[in-house]
Amino acid sequence: MAGRGLCEPEPGVTAESGSGPRAAGRGPVSPKLSAPGPRPAAREADNDIGIAPVPLSLYVHIPWCVRKCPYCDFNSHAMRDPVDQMGYVDALLVDLDHELRRQQLPAVRSLFIGGGTPSLFDAAPIGRLLDGIDARIGLAGDVEITLEANPGTAESRRFSGYRAAGVNRLSIGVQSLDDASLQRLGRIHSAGEARDAVAMARAAGFDSLNLDMMYGLPEQTTGAAVTDLRALLELTPEHVSWYQLTLEPNTLFHQRPPRGLPDDDQLGDIMDAGQALLADGGYGHYEVSAYARNGHACRHNLNYWEFGDYLGIGAGAHGKLTAPGGEIVRTAKQRAPLAYLRAVADGAVSTRVEVAHDERALEFMLNALRLNDGVPTDFFTARTGLPLSAIVAPLDDARARGLLHDDRRRLAPTALGQRFLNDLLALFEEA
Ligand SMILES: C[S@@+](CC[C@H](N)C(=O)[O-])C[C@H]1O[C@@H](n2cnc3c(N)ncnc32)[C@H](O)[C@@H]1O
Ligand code: SF4
Repeated sequence: MAGRGLCEPEPGVTAESGSGPRAAGRGPVSPKLSAPGPRPAAREADNDIGIAPVPLSLYVHIPWCVRKCPYCDFNSHAMRDPVDQMGYVDALLVDLDHELRRQQLPAVRSLFIGGGTPSLFDAAPIGRLLDGIDARIGLAGDVEITLEANPGTAESRRFSGYRAAGVNRLSIGVQSLDDASLQRLGRIHSAGEARDAVAMARAAGFDSLNLDMMYGLPEQTTGAAVTDLRALLELTPEHVSWYQLTLEPNTLFHQRPPRGLPDDDQLGDIMDAGQALLADGGYGHYEVSAYARNGHACRHNLNYWEFGDYLGIGAGAHGKLTAPGGEIVRTAKQRAPLAYLRAVADGAVSTRVEVAHDERALEFMLNALRLNDGVPTDFFTARTGLPLSAIVAPLDDARARGLLHDDRRRLAPTALGQRFLNDLLALFEEA
């Protein structure tokens, strides 16, 4: 199964964006985001549609990179001039103020600063951002705070500053530990610099590290992909995001595909060998592309897959919120950094679209079934407001086909369902 960077929540990506029988794209996902919807009513600390309050996360987007990688379709822009970092942080906090004026929200349980390349920012603006967020909405006592770092921008003083500011998890974009592969991917760093970034993170006191690696790279043999992953595991991360390289529309790689991409059979072999290696190393496979040691599953990403709520602030950031009346609203911010800054100044930051009742079951399943252990069955009603009877026919069908476990307490894909996730999800399209 393909799938890739989860850092940037991006509704509108469907289960078809991967390739081959394992394909299922990345997430969190919603089938469409088209017409503007009605505004939600002010929200109390929890909602009245279900069993428990919907947990809340916060995603913060930093849209700049040193340069654009040829495979990347994230909302990231090559930084031509120095960025006014404090000015951008101030805009993020105004953006958050706008969100909080609409509805009251509980303290956030996880915060993810993604990009782009957040590690381009100094520690002082990151500290001001975290303090500002805490003062406005509150951070839960055990909040998980992740920041994405590109090894080409790693600096030990900055890493120590992030840690001191309250960041407690770093996600480092290693991509490969083979210099020739890194060059073919247009990366700004070497394998040595990626190793140094990991060492700096440890020295700065980070005891929770995610490392991103991609496979299925141009001219990469099956053996080389496995060797690459083995080298990554030698760095002993707590969490690994292992993505199949996908050729996304609107990227240079899509326009002119690089030579020597592995075929589906090779990808299947890489996947089987890599998963065995990860399992031997003690990494539990809990989501399509995510592997973690005990207790280190990413709380932030889990909340997306479990159809929790999240605020999204920053250029191009997406959010999903449940209002007290049960409406589910998706928000999106201006993508271009300058347009975003202008919109914040004008007080017109978000587009808001209500998720219709007949879209909710599929949206829920598109997310929940990416999790290998699925979700408790009662999350369905608690987070969509729909009775379970709304999906009883596709559930029965999926169980009869061996794609879903026959366990009434959980909605969880079988190994077959994970392998043919698109077929499983297709059953819920008409629900
Ligand atoms: C926002 S980036 C991570 C942070 C930082 N910008 C960097 O690249 O080091 C999120 C991750 O998505 C993955 N990714 C991006 N584009 C991808 C693609 N086309 N196919 C597969 N994975 C991709 C990469 O592993 C990348 O580290
Ligand atoms: S550094 Fe990361 S976000 Fe920036 S272009 Fe490369 S992959 Fe995309």
